[in-house]
Amino acid sequence: MPHTTLFVDIKDRIAWVTINRPDKLNALNAQCKAELKEVFTNLRTNSEVDAVIITGAGEKAFIAGTDISELTSLNAESGKQFSENGQAVFDLIQHLGKPVIAAVNGYALGGGCELALACHIRIASENAKFGQPEVNLGIIPGYGGTQRLTRVVGIGKAMELTLTGNTIDAQEALRIGLVNKVVPLVELLPTSEAMAKTILSKGQLAIRMTIKAMNASMELPLSEGLKLEAALFGEACSTEDAKEGVRAFLEKRKPLFKGK
Ligand code: COA
Repeated sequence: MPHTTLFVDIKDRIAWVTINRPDKLNALNAQCKAELKEVFTNLRTNSEVDAVIITGAGEKAFIAGTDISELTSLNAESGKQFSENGQAVFDLIQHLGKPVIAAVNGYALGGGCELALACHIRIASENAKFGQPEVNLGIIPGYGGTQRLTRVVGIGKAMELTLTGNTIDAQEALRIGLVNKVVPLVELLPTSEAMAKTILSKGQLAIRMTIKAMNASMELPLSEGLKLEAALFGEACSTEDAKEGVRAFLEKRKPLFKGK
């Protein structure tokens, strides 16, 4: 089925997913969430893809939030479903099993900030702006913002952002650890691609196990997380990539990882 709200381009093991509603600042409507769900479900098993970069069309917005026009008819029950549906899509991104980089090219508000938070790495252009302005509408973040923002920047800053609804610029987002890097807009996609390529140059089994362990750190008590880490470390040691990586270091050459 052709997509109407986003496009996907696969090149050199990287899938570029671009939300494409620039006239609405790439606001996430139901169609867009359905397309994201379908796309990420397929990317999970696509053997030609080992990393994903997600961005927004145009130079003004990454995603300016959920589409506010779809909020008008929500009640207690449908509102809960609305939140659960969005959360499920963003969970799919966080647990894709492959690295996902958000290339934030402008407004990342509400659901846009939450989508970036579900990604593993966030790179922002200098004009990017972040915020959870839901309180301005009398609602609260519903796609994971109250949970992931806290885990990424800490409860103090997360409280401030969600309670005031204030927007912060890219430098402030960098300062509080919300983004990994800030670059001029023209360098945003090349920088994101370079980061993806650095990750792609490693053993992909190790990358996937690292994501699994790091994701678990957000959910498990330390003692359980350490058990998982030890189990995955053992699994990693049994791979051909581990043998090759260690051998290559000792032989003073670059490793040739095969993802096995
Ligand atoms: N949902 C639906 N439409 C949105 C939207 C959203 N979250 N954000 C922007 N748009 C639409 C605007 O309605 C406008 O559409 P129109 O031209 O048909 O009237 C278009 O995108 C451009 O937005 P506009 O507000 O004119 O741009 P701006 O530069 O003046 O302001 C923002 C930019 C981001 C400050 C402003 O659009 C805004 O506050 N958006 C809502 C952000 C938000 O609250 N997100 C969380 C939702 S839970």
